[in-house]
Amino acid sequence: MAGQTTDKRYGKVAMILHWVIALAIIGQLAGGKFFTSLSFATHSELRISLTQTHKALGITVLVLSLFRLVWRLTHKAPALPDGMSAFERMAAKFTHSAFYVLIIGLPLTGWAMVSPYKNDISFFGLFNWPKIPGLEGNNQIGEMMKTAHEYMGLIAIILIVLHIGAALKHHFINKDDVLARMAPIVKSKSKEI
Ligand code: HEM
Ligand code: HEM
Repeated sequence: MAGQTTDKRYGKVAMILHWVIALAIIGQLAGGKFFTSLSFATHSELRISLTQTHKALGITVLVLSLFRLVWRLTHKAPALPDGMSAFERMAAKFTHSAFYVLIIGLPLTGWAMVSPYKNDISFFGLFNWPKIPGLEGNNQIGEMMKTAHEYMGLIAIILIVLHIGAALKHHFINKDDVLARMAPIVKSKSKEI
């Protein structure tokens, strides 16, 4: 049926979730690096408002990523092309699994980092998102989660560079359909999908 994941390509829901979460994660990584570089002395208002948006968008990513994980566990992904070596298959599996850990772990550590403190987690000004119960006042956990959040961000940046590189290699060097089956605007190389 149109829009469903098949042997050859990802379905509509898998693709939409991939691209929405990919854009949000890249924006969050860039935004996080940017607002943490702003000085409170000279840019306190901008820093505070960007932090609020970062938290709200991050919580949105958490909800979408949990839904995506359930979707992935209940829908098979298309098989990798035959020509890939055992190493490439392992690298692809490892990176994709690590991404699922990161797209859930990054917002979770962010949420846990701010939960011990008094500042509200405003969800785009609509309502206050709850803090993780039991963490209030536990600044030690807050600091640990801040370090974990920062390291996960670094790992995500490295893996995204490798992931984009791999997608481009598949498309331009291997000339297979790996990019086309996740990106409907990209022309299929084999005309099979
Ligand atoms: C969607 C996933 C998220 C990504 C990719 C992400 C990424 C980042 C990055 C790269 C930084 C800068 C770290 C540094 O180098 O110092 C950062 C900082 C921060 N993030 Fe996130 N974040 C996400 C979700 C969240 C969530 C859900 C919250 C809270 C509800 C949050 C709260 C914060 C805070 C408070 C800081 C500033 C920490 C500081 O003062 O150094 N983040 N984030
Ligand atoms: C411009 C950026 C990106 C490009 C070109 C891209 C491309 C692709 C392609 C072509 C696939 C399919 C691979 C296959 O069929 O085996 C894929 C899968 C995947 N990508 Fe990306 N991607 C990008 C960004 C991201 C980001 C930022 C994340 C998350 C941090 C991400 C997470 C994933 C995951 C988890 C899969 C596996 C899907 C599954 O089987 O469930 N991607 N990506």
